[in-house]
Amino acid sequence: MQSYTVKPAKGVRGEIRVPGDKSISHRSIMFGSIANGVTRVSGFLRGEDALSTLAAFRAMGVQVDDDGETLTIHGKGLHGLEEPTDVLDCGNSGTSMRLLTGLLSGQGFFSVLTGDKYLRARPMKRVVGPLAKMGARISGRAGGDKAPLAIQGSKLKGIEYDSPVSSAQVKSAIMLAGLYAEGETVVREPHLSRDHSERMLRHFGVSVETFPGGVRLSGGQELSGRDIVVPGDISSAAFFMVAALIVPGSDLLIRGVGINPTRTGIIDILKGMGANLELVDPREEAGEPVADIRVRHSNLKAMEISGELVPRAIDEFPAICVAASLAEGTTVVSGASELRVKETDRIAAMADNLRRAGVTVEETPDGMRITGAGTLKGCAADSFGDHRIAMSMMVAGLAAKGETSVSDVDCIATSFPGFAELLEEVAKR
Ligand code: S3P
Repeated sequence: MQSYTVKPAKGVRGEIRVPGDKSISHRSIMFGSIANGVTRVSGFLRGEDALSTLAAFRAMGVQVDDDGETLTIHGKGLHGLEEPTDVLDCGNSGTSMRLLTGLLSGQGFFSVLTGDKYLRARPMKRVVGPLAKMGARISGRAGGDKAPLAIQGSKLKGIEYDSPVSSAQVKSAIMLAGLYAEGETVVREPHLSRDHSERMLRHFGVSVETFPGGVRLSGGQELSGRDIVVPGDISSAAFFMVAALIVPGSDLLIRGVGINPTRTGIIDILKGMGANLELVDPREEAGEPVADIRVRHSNLKAMEISGELVPRAIDEFPAICVAASLAEGTTVVSGASELRVKETDRIAAMADNLRRAGVTVEETPDGMRITGAGTLKGCAADSFGDHRIAMSMMVAGLAAKGETSVSDVDCIATSFPGFAELLEEVAKR
């Protein structure tokens, strides 16, 4: 378990691209595998999480060719997957496990899903519960809440489900099962979560109806293979946006970033905090909006973050915490209890790390209050095995006085291979 030491920077400058969107990369493999015909994917994220999904579909008999740039998926059709001969290992990836649970529920075979120690500790009842209502036969540890999960594929029927959480993983797992179910499946959620499944299913020719508060689809619809261009991941770009905002003398251009409105909470929040951030050349690629993002150093002020902004920025809170710790005033985050069940408890992890850097942080059950410290102290930070905590504290280190070490940064490879090298490239000293 490697640690990494970051030195303060005098500016974050240059022009970069970030790796492909993780959510879209997972879905490209899943939907491409159950489509009829060939799907070509460019810009695929070669991070450990998306590679876990790729390995799972190969283990179910899907041929995926890789020329180093483009993945070519030879779709097997809705009913062409084969029973895997071994356990499917999702590694650290919640998206792989939850979406696969939905998809596998409707297959004509048996499968088992497992993951690393962090994933095996995360709640699965949120998908197992509604899937059981559809007729799925899933068992697992802790009464079916924890992996390993054993799934005996069965006949499913559509349901109407009111999800208590705004979660794209829950919504997508039920939609995937809904493709195999008899009749119509409806999922409602408190606030709209990322809609990549809806967009990609439509791109593959499936009729998906969206209405305020939910989504509806009919079972038995076939998918047709399509080309997919995966945009840069706004969740990865977020670390560089915050780095440029907090280090004086910064001016950074991030090219080709996905700006799907269900993901741009980070832009709205940073702008609300006074960020000098511009979207340049907005365009659309394969059903997803994309733009270049220019960010310059800014004097940030605190803001209140709650409601629909929370799911629209759910993965960006560790980075937002770093911005808040250098903003003037107290930033209040509420309605974000989902952060407690991510790769680690991200409220506790960021509170702990920012306190080490000299910031006043108060935890609440569903959020936190962060009072801007003016400056950060170099410190020994802990990743807690969570890629986004690791990257956030490395970014904090650029604006700190003295050196910041971050423990166990290997986890960054789940979503952002090459992060440290890219950060060093733009951090001027
Ligand atoms: C994801 C959904 C979100 C997000 C995760 C990716 C997806 O999780 O945090 O990184 O691809 O559907 P939840 O559905 O648990 O909010």
